[in-house]
Amino acid sequence: MGVAPWVALVLTLITVSLFHLLLIRLKEHRRRRHCKMVFLPPGSMGLPLIGETIEFFTRSPSLDLLPFFKQRLQRYGRIFKTNLVGKDLIVSLDPELNNYLFQQEEKAFQIWFPESFMRILGDENLVLSSGSFHKNIRNMILRVFGPENLRLVLLHDVQGAVKRSLNSWLEMPSIELKPAISSVWTSQLSFKQAPASINKALQELEVIHESLRLANIAPVLFRKAKQDVHIKGIIYSCYTIPEGWTVMVCLSAVHLNPTAYEDPCVFNPWRWKSGVQDISEPVGGSKDFIAFGSGLRFCVGADFAKLQTAVFLHFFVTNYRYSSITD
Ligand code: HEM
Repeated sequence: MGVAPWVALVLTLITVSLFHLLLIRLKEHRRRRHCKMVFLPPGSMGLPLIGETIEFFTRSPSLDLLPFFKQRLQRYGRIFKTNLVGKDLIVSLDPELNNYLFQQEEKAFQIWFPESFMRILGDENLVLSSGSFHKNIRNMILRVFGPENLRLVLLHDVQGAVKRSLNSWLEMPSIELKPAISSVWTSQLSFKQAPASINKALQELEVIHESLRLANIAPVLFRKAKQDVHIKGIIYSCYTIPEGWTVMVCLSAVHLNPTAYEDPCVFNPWRWKSGVQDISEPVGGSKDFIAFGSGLRFCVGADFAKLQTAVFLHFFVTNYRYSSITD
């Protein structure tokens, strides 16, 4: 056999290999292009101008997930789009996506607040800062509100403030509580019958965690996409959170998730006891407990807030008699 057939064979092999490589690259490119197509999550943008704002602000006296979220969860799943107060949003009721958003802080996502809230905060504040400046200010604040200073300095001040505040209640004919708070409160009253138990529960912060789970002061958090982000979808294999869009994280969907919490609407501090349910202790935020946020933006006042609540409950339960007035 001469040289020519060998050359032809080698050339054929090279051509086939190159063709094969090209096919793989083409397939990969098609897959990526398919994923890069903007498939927004399912959902409705509602009426022109007002979107779905009216449904969103319809309140519910129950501790359960608001009907706005519940209905859309059933219709579209844990991630859906909507329009509230004139703004297009992607809503996340999904612990995995929330976790991803918190991990991607200052990378693919950044903190965002509505314009009206920003005006209250002003231009120079911790929540709007980022990078090393944010880190330094956080550390400075944590020196004031961290465990050491709380124990040595602030505990005394908090005790004084709580006593003064509770004493001022004595002069009032009654105290009005918001419906959701009132439900938690009524459940807490039942602990009056078991003072030894409540002391123990207070000590271990289980009552506080359970109250925060059911009635949190921050119902939603926002993150803005700094780039197109592709996430796993249900209706399409992949949804896109387009650059510039805002994701609204609904905290109660996480805290009332029946797969994480048995009988989620029941006030049951004992669930936080290790070994009762498989819930991790919410120190620093966990996938299933985000009352104080998570990641880089985890609330710097978390320990201070828990201390205030613990001192308040302690003085209230041990020094006062109270009864509920039903109408
Ligand atoms: C029960 C009471 C409180 C709750 C439920 C709460 C909740 C939260 C949440 C959810 C975040 C995260 C926001 C986000 O990721 O978008 C946050 C951040 C923050 N909280 Fe709180 N908070 C409470 C009390 C306090 C107190 C008492 C202080 C002041 C000492 C405080 C100061 C802050 C600050 C400065 C941030 C921003 C942290 C950062 O951007 O690095 N919070 N809080």
